[in-house]
Amino acid sequence: MATLGIGIAGLGTVGSGVIGLLRRNADLIEAGCGRKIGIAGVSARDRSRDRGIELGDCRWFDDARSLADDPEIDVVVELIGGEDGVALDLARRSIAAGKHFVTANKALLAIHGTELATAADHAGIHVGYEAAVAGGIPVIKTLREGLAANRVRRVHGILNGTSNYILTAMREHGAAFEDVLGEAQRLGYAELDPTLDIGGGDAAHKLAILAALAFRRPVDFAGVHVEGIRGVTPMDIAFAREFGYRIKLLAIAQAGTGGVEQRVHPTMVPEDGAIAHIDGVFNAVVIEGDAAPVTTLIGAGAGAGPTATAVVADLADIARGVRHAMFAVPGPELVHRPTVAIDQRQGEYYVRLMVIDQPGVMADVSAILRDEQISLGSLLQRGRDPGETVPVVMTTHEAEEASMRRACERIAALDTVTEPPVTIRIERV
Ligand code: HSE
Repeated sequence: MATLGIGIAGLGTVGSGVIGLLRRNADLIEAGCGRKIGIAGVSARDRSRDRGIELGDCRWFDDARSLADDPEIDVVVELIGGEDGVALDLARRSIAAGKHFVTANKALLAIHGTELATAADHAGIHVGYEAAVAGGIPVIKTLREGLAANRVRRVHGILNGTSNYILTAMREHGAAFEDVLGEAQRLGYAELDPTLDIGGGDAAHKLAILAALAFRRPVDFAGVHVEGIRGVTPMDIAFAREFGYRIKLLAIAQAGTGGVEQRVHPTMVPEDGAIAHIDGVFNAVVIEGDAAPVTTLIGAGAGAGPTATAVVADLADIARGVRHAMFAVPGPELVHRPTVAIDQRQGEYYVRLMVIDQPGVMADVSAILRDEQISLGSLLQRGRDPGETVPVVMTTHEAEEASMRRACERIAALDTVTEPPVTIRIERV
């Protein structure tokens, strides 16, 4: 069979990793696909940069968009990034030209995924995006193929390695967020501009894609409630431990009668659960179905080798002539299901107050909780310092988020409460 010609746009860590992997394991890949995968063209901003790979025999394209027009290229592999600009132009142009399209670009798919899925169905081509979610973890294949016969109830997991690395280091060393972030940047584990990672945006992009695939609905990135990890303190991590929890940046999509919840936020998870023990840069995804109750995938969510593995898995599908609808069903068959607002979340909460240590403070706090029908699970005051500020920590039984928010606003207004309350959602995962 003829060689599958691929054109690679973007030669950063992942692009170079894909070329390296295709060369290193060429025999294995050819045996599995029944044909060779050959690099028919590459494009990047800087031709002269040393990438640690030999590009001598690759055709060079100054404008990545022109990969879409080249007759020797069957598949365009977009590894540029960004939700718009060249990446979006290249996606639209490749699909319109009838070329298969493979991407690691979660931002692009979180914003334009539904449009691209519909265009791909119309053109009869395959859009592969295994590398866009959780790097080397084959979660797209698992959801779309392995669990195709299941009604998915919930998908949750740790989808951002940088945040997980920082939270792990804070827990292990009792260190402050800013100190750990600085160290992670020095070591190259965090970007110099870490906003997308620590702000939760990267995990939210991935979650929006997973929710579309799991629930066969149009991608709704705007409907993801996002909170990052910047506000997590060593004090809350220490209290979490006392209550038997760890704090993780959890991404959760779950279907209920009112629609689909999509949220990314720091979460207290039971210390004895599997998710609590996913540490460092690792990612994990847990899928709950009606027939297969729990499927847990753990692996490397980033890095050249794992991400290139996912890109080549998509290329292998295309080489074998496999074509899947992007979100399991054709674009026009994706069924709109409303996104449930965060205010409607029902769950338990951890609340930390900084209060003046004097009689009657907790009576006022309890009265507010009673008014909002919030029931206390446990209460802890560490230290005794009459007249000074001390932390008081509570966990609640299941309550509605809107009630919790109103209660915290009223508690914050008490004279004896010196800082806005810190609330962290608890999930029994
Ligand atoms: N920056 C991401 C992370 C990997 O820290 O997990 C790529 O999405």
